[in-house]
Amino acid sequence: MILLLGGSGYIGQAFARELERRNLPFKNLSRREVDYTKFDSLLGFLKSEQPEFVINAAGFTGKPNVDACELAKADTLAGNTLLPLTIANACATLDIPWGHVSSGCIYSGAKIVLNGSERVEKDLTKSELRGVIKQSPENIHGFTETDAPNFSFRDGPCSFYSGSKALAEEGIAGVGRSYSWRLRIPFDEFDSPRNYLSKVQRYAKVYDNVNSISHRRDFASACLDLWQRRAAFGIYNVTNPGFVTTRQVVALIGKYLKPAKRFEYWASDAEFYQTAAKTPRSNCVLDAGKLLATGVKIRPVVEALEDSLRDWKPE
Ligand SMILES: NC(=O)c1ccc[n+]([C@@H]2O[C@H](COP(=O)([O-])OP(=O)(O)OC[C@H]3O[C@@H](n4cnc5c(N)ncnc54)[C@H](OP(=O)(O)O)[C@@H]3O)[C@@H](O)[C@H]2O)c1
Repeated sequence: MILLLGGSGYIGQAFARELERRNLPFKNLSRREVDYTKFDSLLGFLKSEQPEFVINAAGFTGKPNVDACELAKADTLAGNTLLPLTIANACATLDIPWGHVSSGCIYSGAKIVLNGSERVEKDLTKSELRGVIKQSPENIHGFTETDAPNFSFRDGPCSFYSGSKALAEEGIAGVGRSYSWRLRIPFDEFDSPRNYLSKVQRYAKVYDNVNSISHRRDFASACLDLWQRRAAFGIYNVTNPGFVTTRQVVALIGKYLKPAKRFEYWASDAEFYQTAAKTPRSNCVLDAGKLLATGVKIRPVVEALEDSLRDWKPE
């Protein structure tokens, strides 16, 4: 049996559907049934049920967005840092392998090759980078799992949410046997306030940036593939390979959904942060090469976006 924590959430639901589709027996445990945030309760449950694998899709994301985490720092730390550490220690005590839904939001920017040398650029909105991003995307390299997070408490500024996620990865590394699966800006074909493609359509103005992103089902499927193939434990960037600009996403929405609305963009970072956001946002490119090298298949990002928009299911 596989134990699923956080199965009621946006990402947990995708795991539940994928586990069902694969006919893998699992238990979707709610906090109400067993308070798995408490070490003794979780350990007791693990001892009696002896799952072969644990999935942690629980966490505190802040609603409607990460700004809410700045006002609920204790909850953010409890859900995103203390809970994974509790699970890591309980699983390690019984030598149970597990997977944790981490986030790619612990990075900012990308590695850019300019004049033959590579450097990290944290801000991809700089006007001098537009040409490289558009005309030579092969010169934009994503962060790999061995690159230290650069949008974290150790290398700020960062949002409190991102800091709490980076701290969790650091804390669980080396404790027992675990995967840290980095998810980034989930989207799929189901219109929902949590879906990136829905958010882009509903924003008063769009923030133009560059990102690697994850199709929700592709993400859950790739994570389970890693476990089923018995891939080496450790950190994996689980994004659809490649990256997209928000303008590309808007163009694809225009092509497939033909919305009546004309999309407007924030004129600058300054206008965005003065009007629509409080805490800094992570925008970044991740390298999915380690995931692909295990043999796990995942669609390139533009294909996943086009498929989602072609199959769009309005709310
Ligand atoms: N959605 C994203 O954009 C995104 C992007 C990257 C990474 N992630 C990560 O993915 C994980 C799941 O996110 P989600 O979007 O599915 O979140 P969500 O929809 O808000 O669901 C959160 C889940 O976590 C459970 N939970 C357990 N302890 C919690 C606590 N202390 N505070 C809040 N919830 C707690 C909730 O259970 P109850 O039913 O008991 O409340 C619920 O099942 C999180 O670790 C998040 O950091 C999400």
